[in-house]
Amino acid sequence: MKFLLNILLITVLSNKLWAQAFINKSLDYSAKQVEKTLTLIPDNTKDIPRNINRGSTQWRFVNFRDWTSGFWPGTLWYLYEYNHDPKLKIEADRFSRLLTPLSDEPAFDHDLGFQIFCSFGNGYRITKNPEYKKVILKTADVLATLYNPKVGTILSWPREVKKFGGHNTIIDNMINLELLFWASKNGGNKKLYDIAVKHAETTMNNHFRPDYTSYHVVVYDTLTGKRTKAVTHQGYADNSMWARGQSWAIYGFTMCFKETKKPEFLDFAQKVTDVYLKNLPADLISYWDFNDPKIPNAPRDASAAAVTASALIDLSKFVKDPAKKKLYFDKAKEMLAELSSPRYQSGDKNSAILLHSTGHHPNGTEVDASINYADYYYVEALMKLEQKRKGK
Ligand code: GLY
Repeated sequence: MKFLLNILLITVLSNKLWAQAFINKSLDYSAKQVEKTLTLIPDNTKDIPRNINRGSTQWRFVNFRDWTSGFWPGTLWYLYEYNHDPKLKIEADRFSRLLTPLSDEPAFDHDLGFQIFCSFGNGYRITKNPEYKKVILKTADVLATLYNPKVGTILSWPREVKKFGGHNTIIDNMINLELLFWASKNGGNKKLYDIAVKHAETTMNNHFRPDYTSYHVVVYDTLTGKRTKAVTHQGYADNSMWARGQSWAIYGFTMCFKETKKPEFLDFAQKVTDVYLKNLPADLISYWDFNDPKIPNAPRDASAAAVTASALIDLSKFVKDPAKKKLYFDKAKEMLAELSSPRYQSGDKNSAILLHSTGHHPNGTEVDASINYADYYYVEALMKLEQKRKGK
Protein backbone atom coordinates (compact mmCIF):
# COMPACT_ATOMS: atom_id res chain seq x y z
CA MET A 1 0.00 0.00 0.00
CA LYS A 2 2.76 2.42 1.08
CA PHE A 3 4.70 1.45 -2.04
CA LEU A 4 1.69 2.05 -4.33
CA LEU A 5 1.13 5.42 -2.73
CA ASN A 6 4.75 6.32 -3.42
CA ILE A 7 4.44 5.27 -7.06
CA LEU A 8 1.39 7.50 -7.32
CA LEU A 9 3.27 10.34 -5.69
CA ILE A 10 6.15 9.97 -8.11
CA THR A 11 3.88 9.97 -11.16
CA VAL A 12 2.37 13.18 -9.96
CA LEU A 13 5.83 14.57 -9.21
CA SER A 14 6.67 14.55 -12.88
CA ASN A 15 4.04 17.21 -13.31
CA LYS A 16 5.91 20.50 -13.11
CA LEU A 17 3.39 22.37 -11.05
CA TRP A 18 3.19 19.62 -8.55
CA ALA A 19 6.97 19.47 -8.39
CA GLN A 20 7.03 23.16 -7.54
CA ALA A 21 4.45 22.64 -4.80
CA PHE A 22 6.41 19.67 -3.44
CA ILE A 23 9.71 21.58 -3.36
CA ASN A 24 8.16 24.67 -1.76
CA LYS A 25 6.25 22.66 0.78
CA SER A 26 9.34 20.68 1.81
CA LEU A 27 11.58 23.75 1.98
CA ASP A 28 8.96 25.83 3.82
CA TYR A 29 8.61 22.96 6.28
CA SER A 30 12.43 22.83 6.70
CA ALA A 31 12.60 26.58 7.33
CA LYS A 32 9.85 26.26 9.94
CA GLN A 33 11.73 23.52 11.79
CA VAL A 34 14.97 25.53 11.68
CA GLU A 35 13.18 28.57 13.08
CA LYS A 36 11.86 26.42 15.92
CA THR A 37 15.41 25.28 16.65
CA LEU A 38 16.65 28.88 16.62
CA THR A 39 14.16 29.74 19.36
CA LEU A 40 15.57 26.88 21.45
CA ILE A 41 19.19 28.01 21.17
CA PRO A 42 20.28 30.65 23.68
CA ASP A 43 21.37 33.93 22.06
CA ASN A 44 25.12 34.22 21.46
CA THR A 45 25.74 30.59 22.30
CA LYS A 46 28.84 28.96 20.84
CA ASP A 47 27.10 25.60 20.81
CA ILE A 48 25.98 24.04 17.56
CA PRO A 49 23.01 21.65 17.38
CA ARG A 50 24.12 18.18 16.25
CA ASN A 51 21.45 15.57 16.99
CA ILE A 52 18.28 14.70 18.84
CA ASN A 53 18.13 11.18 20.14
CA ARG A 54 15.14 8.98 19.45
CA GLY A 55 12.13 9.91 21.55
CA SER A 56 13.73 13.12 22.83
CA THR A 57 13.04 16.75 21.90
CA GLN A 58 16.38 18.06 23.17
CA TRP A 59 19.21 18.89 20.83
CA ARG A 60 22.66 17.65 21.76
CA PHE A 61 25.09 20.49 21.14
CA VAL A 62 28.72 20.37 20.07
CA ASN A 63 31.47 22.95 19.64
CA PHE A 64 33.11 24.06 16.38
CA ARG A 65 35.71 21.28 16.49
CA ASP A 66 33.11 18.55 16.06
CA TRP A 67 33.08 17.02 12.56
CA THR A 68 29.41 18.00 12.11
CA SER A 69 29.88 21.69 13.02
CA GLY A 70 29.44 22.97 9.44
CA PHE A 71 26.07 21.35 8.74
CA TRP A 72 23.92 23.62 10.90
CA PRO A 73 25.30 26.87 9.42
CA GLY A 74 25.16 25.22 5.98
CA THR A 75 21.47 24.44 6.40
CA LEU A 76 20.87 28.03 7.48
CA TRP A 77 22.66 29.31 4.36
CA TYR A 78 20.61 27.11 2.02
CA LEU A 79 17.35 28.17 3.64
CA TYR A 80 18.38 31.82 3.52
CA GLU A 81 19.11 31.35 -0.17
CA TYR A 82 15.61 29.93 -0.53
CA ASN A 83 13.49 32.41 1.41
CA HIS A 84 15.82 35.45 1.84
CA ASP A 85 14.84 35.79 5.49
CA PRO A 86 17.45 38.25 6.88
CA LYS A 87 17.35 36.54 10.28
CA LEU A 88 18.57 33.32 8.70
CA LYS A 89 21.47 35.21 7.13
CA ILE A 90 22.50 36.71 10.47
CA GLU A 91 22.41 33.28 12.12
CA ALA A 92 24.18 31.55 9.20
CA ASP A 93 26.95 34.13 9.39
CA ARG A 94 27.21 33.88 13.17
CA PHE A 95 27.37 30.09 13.27
CA SER A 96 29.81 29.95 10.34
CA ARG A 97 32.18 32.37 12.05
CA LEU A 98 32.37 30.10 15.10
CA LEU A 99 34.40 27.72 12.91
CA THR A 100 37.04 30.32 11.92
CA PRO A 101 39.77 28.97 14.26
CA LEU A 102 39.85 25.77 12.19
CA SER A 103 41.60 27.75 9.46
CA ASP A 104 44.42 28.75 11.82
CA GLU A 105 45.13 25.55 13.74
CA PRO A 106 47.04 22.43 12.79
CA ALA A 107 44.65 19.88 11.26
CA PHE A 108 42.96 17.69 13.83
CA ASP A 109 41.64 15.43 11.07
CA HIS A 110 40.25 15.28 7.51
CA ASP A 111 36.80 16.67 8.35
CA LEU A 112 37.82 20.24 7.53
CA GLY A 113 36.04 20.05 4.19
CA PHE A 114 32.73 19.04 5.75
CA GLN A 115 33.15 21.75 8.37
CA ILE A 116 34.36 24.70 6.34
CA PHE A 117 32.89 24.06 2.90
CA CYS A 118 29.33 23.46 4.15
CA SER A 119 29.46 26.63 6.27
CA PHE A 120 31.80 29.23 4.72
CA GLY A 121 31.64 27.54 1.31
CA ASN A 122 27.90 28.08 1.01
CA GLY A 123 28.22 31.46 2.67
CA TYR A 124 30.75 32.61 0.06
CA ARG A 125 28.77 31.13 -2.83
CA ILE A 126 25.74 33.15 -1.75
CA THR A 127 27.26 36.41 -0.45
CA LYS A 128 30.75 36.65 -2.01
CA ASN A 129 32.00 37.97 1.33
CA PRO A 130 35.83 38.13 0.92
CA GLU A 131 36.38 37.30 4.60
CA TYR A 132 34.74 33.92 4.02
CA LYS A 133 36.98 33.27 1.05
CA LYS A 134 40.11 33.84 3.16
CA VAL A 135 38.93 31.26 5.69
CA ILE A 136 38.19 28.71 2.96
CA LEU A 137 41.57 29.15 1.28
CA LYS A 138 43.50 28.94 4.53
CA THR A 139 41.62 25.83 5.59
CA ALA A 140 42.34 24.09 2.29
CA ASP A 141 46.06 24.54 2.97
CA VAL A 142 45.60 23.14 6.48
CA LEU A 143 43.78 20.08 5.10
CA ALA A 144 46.55 19.50 2.56
CA THR A 145 49.09 19.05 5.38
CA LEU A 146 47.51 15.63 5.98
CA TYR A 147 48.38 14.45 2.46
CA ASN A 148 50.98 11.70 2.20
CA PRO A 149 52.47 11.63 -1.34
CA LYS A 150 53.86 8.14 -0.83
CA VAL A 151 50.33 6.80 -0.24
CA GLY A 152 48.49 9.25 -2.48
CA THR A 153 45.75 10.04 0.05
CA ILE A 154 44.96 12.36 2.91
CA LEU A 155 45.35 10.87 6.37
CA SER A 156 41.81 10.84 7.78
CA TRP A 157 42.43 10.32 11.48
CA PRO A 158 45.93 11.32 12.68
CA ARG A 159 44.93 10.33 16.21
CA GLU A 160 44.15 6.75 15.09
CA VAL A 161 47.40 5.93 13.29
CA LYS A 162 48.56 3.70 16.12
CA LYS A 163 45.20 1.97 16.55
CA PHE A 164 44.85 1.13 12.84
CA GLY A 165 48.54 0.43 12.37
CA GLY A 166 49.27 3.05 9.75
CA HIS A 167 48.04 5.80 7.46
CA ASN A 168 44.26 5.43 7.60
CA THR A 169 41.90 6.80 4.96
CA ILE A 170 38.14 6.57 5.28
CA ILE A 171 35.66 6.71 2.44
CA ASP A 172 34.03 9.80 4.02
CA ASN A 173 37.25 11.65 3.17
CA MET A 174 36.12 11.89 -0.48
CA ILE A 175 33.74 14.71 0.45
CA ASN A 176 36.56 16.89 1.79
CA LEU A 177 38.17 16.99 -1.66
CA GLU A 178 35.60 19.55 -2.79
CA LEU A 179 37.30 22.13 -0.56
CA LEU A 180 40.64 21.42 -2.28
CA PHE A 181 39.18 21.61 -5.79
CA TRP A 182 37.46 24.89 -4.97
CA ALA A 183 40.57 26.45 -3.43
CA SER A 184 42.75 25.40 -6.40
CA LYS A 185 40.35 27.19 -8.77
CA ASN A 186 39.75 30.29 -6.64
CA GLY A 187 43.17 31.72 -5.91
CA GLY A 188 44.61 28.91 -3.78
CA ASN A 189 47.59 26.66 -4.47
CA LYS A 190 47.17 24.81 -7.79
CA LYS A 191 48.74 21.71 -6.21
CA LEU A 192 45.55 21.24 -4.18
CA TYR A 193 43.86 20.10 -7.39
CA ASP A 194 46.51 17.40 -7.95
CA ILE A 195 46.19 16.23 -4.35
CA ALA A 196 42.42 15.89 -4.69
CA VAL A 197 42.69 13.98 -7.99
CA LYS A 198 45.37 11.65 -6.62
CA HIS A 199 43.36 10.99 -3.46
CA ALA A 200 40.30 10.08 -5.55
CA GLU A 201 42.32 7.83 -7.87
CA THR A 202 44.03 6.03 -5.00
CA THR A 203 40.67 5.56 -3.29
CA MET A 204 39.10 4.26 -6.50
CA ASN A 205 41.86 1.64 -6.76
CA ASN A 206 42.02 0.51 -3.14
CA HIS A 207 38.80 1.20 -1.31
CA PHE A 208 36.33 -1.06 -3.12
CA ARG A 209 35.44 -4.72 -3.37
CA PRO A 210 34.99 -6.30 -6.81
CA ASP A 211 31.22 -5.55 -6.61
CA TYR A 212 31.99 -1.82 -6.05
CA THR A 213 30.83 -1.75 -2.44
CA SER A 214 33.07 0.37 -0.27
CA TYR A 215 35.22 -0.50 2.71
CA HIS A 216 35.01 2.08 5.44
CA VAL A 217 38.69 2.34 6.42
CA VAL A 218 41.72 1.44 4.31
CA VAL A 219 45.09 1.37 6.03
CA TYR A 220 48.34 2.03 4.19
CA ASP A 221 51.94 1.71 5.29
CA THR A 222 52.96 5.29 6.02
CA LEU A 223 56.46 4.83 4.62
CA THR A 224 55.99 2.55 1.61
CA GLY A 225 52.42 3.61 0.73
CA LYS A 226 51.38 -0.04 0.39
CA ARG A 227 47.78 -0.94 1.30
CA THR A 228 47.92 -3.17 4.36
CA LYS A 229 44.28 -3.76 5.32
CA ALA A 230 40.65 -2.74 4.84
CA VAL A 231 38.30 -2.72 7.82
CA THR A 232 35.19 -1.09 9.16
CA HIS A 233 34.70 1.45 11.91
CA GLN A 234 31.03 2.41 11.72
CA GLY A 235 29.66 -0.48 9.67
CA TYR A 236 28.32 -3.90 10.62
CA ALA A 237 31.43 -5.81 9.53
CA ASP A 238 34.68 -5.35 7.62
CA ASN A 239 33.02 -6.81 4.53
CA SER A 240 29.60 -5.20 4.80
CA MET A 241 28.22 -2.22 2.87
CA TRP A 242 27.85 0.53 5.47
CA ALA A 243 25.09 2.68 4.00
CA ARG A 244 26.47 6.15 4.65
CA GLY A 245 29.95 5.10 3.55
CA GLN A 246 28.53 4.03 0.19
CA SER A 247 26.60 7.29 -0.04
CA TRP A 248 29.84 9.24 0.57
CA ALA A 249 31.35 7.29 -2.33
CA ILE A 250 28.38 8.11 -4.60
CA TYR A 251 28.55 11.78 -3.69
CA GLY A 252 32.35 11.91 -3.73
CA PHE A 253 32.94 10.43 -7.18
CA THR A 254 30.06 12.40 -8.69
CA MET A 255 31.62 15.58 -7.29
CA CYS A 256 35.07 14.54 -8.59
CA PHE A 257 33.61 14.22 -12.08
CA LYS A 258 31.95 17.61 -11.74
CA GLU A 259 35.30 19.16 -10.77
CA THR A 260 37.62 17.34 -13.21
CA LYS A 261 35.44 16.06 -16.09
CA LYS A 262 37.55 12.89 -15.97
CA PRO A 263 35.38 10.12 -17.47
CA GLU A 264 36.79 7.47 -15.13
CA PHE A 265 35.17 9.27 -12.18
CA LEU A 266 31.79 9.41 -13.92
CA ASP A 267 32.01 5.73 -14.77
CA PHE A 268 33.00 4.87 -11.21
CA ALA A 269 30.26 7.06 -9.70
CA GLN A 270 27.71 5.03 -11.65
CA LYS A 271 29.19 1.72 -10.50
CA VAL A 272 29.09 2.64 -6.82
CA THR A 273 25.59 4.04 -7.29
CA ASP A 274 24.18 1.03 -9.13
CA VAL A 275 25.12 -1.46 -6.40
CA TYR A 276 23.54 0.82 -3.79
CA LEU A 277 20.29 1.27 -5.76
CA LYS A 278 20.06 -2.44 -6.58
CA ASN A 279 20.08 -3.41 -2.91
CA LEU A 280 17.69 -0.83 -1.47
CA PRO A 281 14.41 -1.73 0.21
CA ALA A 282 11.18 -0.83 -1.64
CA ASP A 283 10.87 2.62 -0.05
CA LEU A 284 14.46 3.47 -1.10
CA ILE A 285 15.63 4.48 2.37
CA SER A 286 18.54 2.20 3.20
CA TYR A 287 19.00 0.32 6.42
CA TRP A 288 22.04 1.64 8.30
CA ASP A 289 24.14 -1.21 6.88
CA PHE A 290 23.01 -3.28 3.88
CA ASN A 291 24.30 -6.47 5.49
CA ASP A 292 22.89 -6.24 8.99
CA PRO A 293 21.33 -9.69 9.51
CA LYS A 294 18.55 -8.03 11.55
CA ILE A 295 17.05 -6.46 8.39
CA PRO A 296 14.09 -5.73 8.15
CA ASN A 297 14.20 -5.08 11.89
CA ALA A 298 17.32 -2.93 11.72
CA PRO A 299 17.37 0.89 11.95
CA ARG A 300 17.29 2.97 8.78
CA ASP A 301 19.68 5.72 7.85
CA ALA A 302 17.81 8.70 6.43
CA SER A 303 21.13 10.57 6.20
CA ALA A 304 22.47 8.08 3.63
CA ALA A 305 19.29 8.60 1.58
CA ALA A 306 19.63 12.38 1.77
CA VAL A 307 23.32 12.32 0.73
CA THR A 308 22.52 9.92 -2.12
CA ALA A 309 19.50 11.89 -3.33
CA SER A 310 21.59 15.05 -3.50
CA ALA A 311 24.34 13.26 -5.45
CA LEU A 312 21.89 11.55 -7.83
CA ILE A 313 20.46 14.89 -8.94
CA ASP A 314 23.96 15.86 -10.12
CA LEU A 315 24.77 12.43 -11.51
CA SER A 316 21.56 12.48 -13.58
CA LYS A 317 22.81 15.71 -15.18
CA PHE A 318 26.22 14.27 -16.05
CA VAL A 319 25.34 10.86 -17.55
CA LYS A 320 24.55 10.85 -21.26
CA ASP A 321 22.43 7.69 -21.52
CA PRO A 322 18.79 8.93 -21.38
CA ALA A 323 17.59 5.80 -19.53
CA LYS A 324 20.21 6.23 -16.79
CA LYS A 325 19.59 9.96 -16.63
CA LYS A 326 15.95 9.27 -15.95
CA LEU A 327 16.65 6.42 -13.55
CA TYR A 328 18.95 8.51 -11.34
CA PHE A 329 16.67 11.52 -11.34
CA ASP A 330 13.56 9.45 -10.62
CA LYS A 331 15.31 7.66 -7.74
CA ALA A 332 16.38 10.98 -6.25
CA LYS A 333 12.80 12.28 -6.42
CA GLU A 334 11.41 9.06 -4.94
CA MET A 335 13.90 9.21 -2.05
CA LEU A 336 13.03 12.85 -1.39
CA ALA A 337 9.30 12.07 -1.56
CA GLU A 338 9.72 9.35 1.04
CA LEU A 339 11.91 11.57 3.26
CA SER A 340 9.22 14.26 2.97
CA SER A 341 6.50 11.93 4.20
CA PRO A 342 5.29 11.85 7.82
CA ARG A 343 7.28 8.64 8.18
CA TYR A 344 10.55 10.59 7.97
CA GLN A 345 9.78 14.25 8.72
CA SER A 346 10.08 15.15 12.40
CA GLY A 347 7.05 17.46 12.31
CA ASP A 348 5.90 18.05 15.87
CA LYS A 349 8.02 15.24 17.32
CA ASN A 350 11.09 17.45 17.53
CA SER A 351 12.54 20.55 15.86
CA ALA A 352 14.98 18.78 13.56
CA ILE A 353 13.89 18.32 9.95
CA LEU A 354 14.17 14.53 9.64
CA LEU A 355 13.90 11.45 11.82
CA HIS A 356 15.54 8.00 11.51
CA SER A 357 19.23 8.50 10.85
CA THR A 358 21.95 6.31 12.27
CA GLY A 359 25.28 7.84 13.27
CA HIS A 360 27.44 5.19 14.90
CA HIS A 361 25.58 1.92 15.31
CA PRO A 362 28.51 -0.16 16.65
CA ASN A 363 28.95 2.43 19.42
CA GLY A 364 25.21 2.55 20.05
CA THR A 365 25.21 6.32 19.52
CA GLU A 366 22.76 8.30 17.39
CA VAL A 367 20.81 5.21 16.44
CA ASP A 368 17.46 6.03 14.80
CA ALA A 369 18.04 9.70 15.63
CA SER A 370 17.63 13.12 14.07
CA ILE A 371 21.08 14.28 12.90
CA ASN A 372 22.14 17.62 11.44
CA TYR A 373 23.86 16.15 8.35
CA ALA A 374 20.69 14.34 7.27
CA ASP A 375 18.90 17.70 7.44
CA TYR A 376 21.72 19.45 5.56
CA TYR A 377 21.82 17.05 2.60
CA TYR A 378 18.01 16.86 2.44
CA VAL A 379 17.78 20.65 2.15
CA GLU A 380 20.70 20.68 -0.30
CA ALA A 381 18.92 18.13 -2.52
CA LEU A 382 15.68 20.14 -2.41
CA MET A 383 17.61 23.28 -3.34
CA LYS A 384 19.12 21.45 -6.31
CA LEU A 385 15.59 20.53 -7.44
CA GLU A 386 14.58 24.15 -6.94
CA GLN A 387 17.50 25.41 -9.06
CA LYS A 388 16.69 22.84 -11.75
CA ARG A 389 13.05 23.91 -11.75
CA LYS A 390 14.19 27.51 -12.28
CA GLY A 391 16.34 26.32 -15.18
CA LYS A 392 19.64 27.15 -13.40
N1 GLY B 1 31.96 11.11 8.60
C1 GLY B 1 31.43 10.38 9.67
C2 GLY B 1 30.14 9.73 9.39
O1 GLY B 1 29.68 9.68 8.26
O2 GLY B 1 29.55 9.25 10.34
